[in-house]
Amino acid sequence: MFKILSNEQIAPKLYRLAVLAPRIAGHRRPGQFVIVHADRQAERIPLTIADADERQGTIILYVQAVGYSTGRLVKMAAGSSLRDVAGPLGRPTDIQKWGRATCVGGGVGTAVLYPVAKALAAAGNQVTALIGGRTASLIILRDELAAFCHPIHITTEDGSLGQKGFVTQVLEKQLRDSSLQPQVVFAAGPVPMMRAVAEMTRPYGVRTIVSLNPIMIDGTGMCGGCRVMVDGEMKFACVDGPEFDGHKVDFDLLTDRLTTYREEECRMLKQLDD
Ligand code: FES
Repeated sequence: MFKILSNEQIAPKLYRLAVLAPRIAGHRRPGQFVIVHADRQAERIPLTIADADERQGTIILYVQAVGYSTGRLVKMAAGSSLRDVAGPLGRPTDIQKWGRATCVGGGVGTAVLYPVAKALAAAGNQVTALIGGRTASLIILRDELAAFCHPIHITTEDGSLGQKGFVTQVLEKQLRDSSLQPQVVFAAGPVPMMRAVAEMTRPYGVRTIVSLNPIMIDGTGMCGGCRVMVDGEMKFACVDGPEFDGHKVDFDLLTDRLTTYREEECRMLKQLDD
């Protein structure tokens, strides 16, 4: 079970894994994720289910090697097996026929948006994708999204692909133009990007859903590790989310909690390099 069928590096520190997980592939819905436990030494890592093939029983995961456990995971070769993959977890995305929907993805967050955008298009929405990253090599799933998102706008901070700048610059133009303004915006990526998207849509009253990525441990609502504040109430991202109304999320608290274990993470990373 949970055999890695392929492990392909697609950008610096970014890997695409195809994993045999037939039960998860058969049940997953857009917006859901798995918790992967690579081996005894690694921590549990929440990863979005970017895609799945029910017939072959496979799920597709995008992994950015930013810490000790993700570093161990991306070093696992095709043919080896993961210790455990729990899922599908989290509430599926609320897919409705909204009209115009804009999906904003930053870096590996685009993998979170891919199944959401696909389902939105299948539900009859006109879907626009705004994909951003620091540089061209970090822009993922462009061709795959182009199959059902029209148009796709790409931004890079260094100008190596698409428009130089940030996705929010393109979003602002859409919001100002009543013929382009979306009825709903979905955003996934770095916390500062999701916060900027939510702040930009707020004055326009455009519904904005963000996919949060707090620290997770069990993924079942038991440990409290993934707690976030939404509209003044404590929520657990693993069971109440991971998607929430971006206008109601306490992004300051989320940022604080994401940096809580930075020193320990740096120490573990050093061990991985040694
Ligand atoms: Fe433990 Fe959500 S990961 S409560």
